[in-house]
Amino acid sequence: MSTPFDPEMSFDDYDEMKDPRPETNGFDAVVEAAISRRGFLGGVLAFGSGAMAMGATGLMPGRAEAMVASRFAFTPIPTSTANTVNVPEGYTWQVLAKWGQPMFSGVADVDVETGGTAAAQEKAFGDNTDGMEVFSLGHRQILAVNNEYIQSKVLLANREDGMPADAEDAAKIKAAHGVSVAEIVEEEGQWRIVLDSPFNRRITMETPMEITGPAAGSDLMKTAADPTGTRVLGTWNNCGSGRTPWGTFLTCEENFNGYFGSSDAALARTPAWERYGVNLESRYGLEHFDPRFDLAKEPNEPNRHGYVVEFDPLDPESTPKKRTALGRFKHENAEVVVNGDGRIVVYMGDDERGEFLYKFVSEGVYTVGGDTEGLLDAGTLYAAQFSDDMTGRWLPLTPETTGMAPEEICVHTRMAASAAGATTMDRPEWVAAHPHRAELYCALTNNKNRGLKPNAGGDATPVGGPNPREANKFGQIVRWRPEGGDHAAEGFTWDLYMMAGNPEVFEDDRAGSPNVTAGNMFNSPDGMRFDSRGFLWIQTDGDYSNEGDFAGQGNNQMLVGDPATGEIARFLTGPLKCEVTGLAWSADRRTAFVGIQHPGADDEGAFPDGPGTLPRSCIIAVKREDGGVIG
Ligand code: FEO
Ligand code: CA
Ligand code: CA
Repeated sequence: MSTPFDPEMSFDDYDEMKDPRPETNGFDAVVEAAISRRGFLGGVLAFGSGAMAMGATGLMPGRAEAMVASRFAFTPIPTSTANTVNVPEGYTWQVLAKWGQPMFSGVADVDVETGGTAAAQEKAFGDNTDGMEVFSLGHRQILAVNNEYIQSKVLLANREDGMPADAEDAAKIKAAHGVSVAEIVEEEGQWRIVLDSPFNRRITMETPMEITGPAAGSDLMKTAADPTGTRVLGTWNNCGSGRTPWGTFLTCEENFNGYFGSSDAALARTPAWERYGVNLESRYGLEHFDPRFDLAKEPNEPNRHGYVVEFDPLDPESTPKKRTALGRFKHENAEVVVNGDGRIVVYMGDDERGEFLYKFVSEGVYTVGGDTEGLLDAGTLYAAQFSDDMTGRWLPLTPETTGMAPEEICVHTRMAASAAGATTMDRPEWVAAHPHRAELYCALTNNKNRGLKPNAGGDATPVGGPNPREANKFGQIVRWRPEGGDHAAEGFTWDLYMMAGNPEVFEDDRAGSPNVTAGNMFNSPDGMRFDSRGFLWIQTDGDYSNEGDFAGQGNNQMLVGDPATGEIARFLTGPLKCEVTGLAWSADRRTAFVGIQHPGADDEGAFPDGPGTLPRSCIIAVKREDGGVIG
């Protein structure tokens, strides 16, 4: 079998290679773009206090001088192009867990020549770590970590093209995906996984799950293996995460579409497949080994993936549940807040060029110790509409607003949001809720199609509002405040917290917002979390070439933002090629766990183990040398 793609191509570029967008937006979009550019210049950073609110673009003098005194307990570090992790002086890091590391005794560690066996992978830490959460039970701490996708040429080190050649390879691919749940412990200053802990669990592409919510049991969900439309095997491309106040983990299925292919090359693609990027050829060729992934045999199987999945990480026997009420799209994370009236609100991005930002508002009310089983199954899904006057509305996705049945809204959510008139966004990644006030932040990572091409549904992507730059290469962070501090309200106001850019290369809006300087610049904000103090940690998944438009930006990194002052400071730089993604804290907040996804190798060897090893995604534990709180 030949490799149908460059294994290092991003999911976004892969999908667009398969589904090229038309070359132009409509004339109306161009006119609208010109208008909204002016609106943007007057409004950026409207929420910012003091100096940060003054400037509008990189053309303003005093970019660096505008910064007020830092509230951070570290000296920011420079960019790096080295194949290692760097943290500020006074901080240390160690590897906690890495791909292929056994979670149970009697399991072999990764074999460099082959990438290991499927049987070992089923009992070992998964690949490509992403969103994670730490849960406590008494003095014990349990880490739940997403394993988003795979490094196919590393995992299948036995196959030159990185594609499965037999059922064993396919099984290994399935076992490396999903979620790893592991008890962790700190002993003599070092964190490690507790081998054979009763909490240790691997959730993979084969783990039995339930389908719940309005789409459960509908004809859209039925397959030969599951005529009830209520049971499904597995989860994959688990990107960002979330946690509920009742202690469950939310794992979010992102680029689920790329795992399906067709044995019938003439099969006609449905409009829904086209909208979701379901193609006749898959990324990893699983359809050749498992009919479930063959669209010609199971056309409904894709409808059963692309959800937020909830499970109890403290109960290894619990059955994960796909919560269809939260919609089906390329879920990034699921940021859960308890509204003032007790309803649960979940904010979610759909990470694709020109797709939408969503929220779910539960029908029921959360009470501590009460029944939480149905809270994420009944409620209303909304998509965001932003206006250039710095206000916005949440558009309810209902049969009345979309012309679609409730189960169709849950399964074909993108089409529902298009019908309602939501705003096409620059790839919404993580949403983070401020811990002290009703204020939300979403990383809009980048969008090379902004102002140039419509989304996959044909919706125009005009320049304007929170997406103010054509062919947006650097990304920005939009924030909004719900009307009256009520997360269930339909109205909100918004501004841009920051626009990433390169002030060393550009003097126009590509220089970024005034709180971006030569000393803290980066591109492509992605992972975001607030710590308990109200600092916003920002992780990047961007261009690490350190050349051209991105000169001086180095490897992917993690920064900290202070929304009170606008200050942003670089805290960590990752190794070559990696994406820094996933952040959680130990129960005492003296350790930050940070995900290093798909690191690379150079002449001096692979990260993290050096010469003669394979590069391995890993979780690192970062601490202060003085034992102080870190988040
Ligand atoms: Fe898996 Fe949108 O990042
Ligand atoms: Ca991400
Ligand atoms: Ca990303």
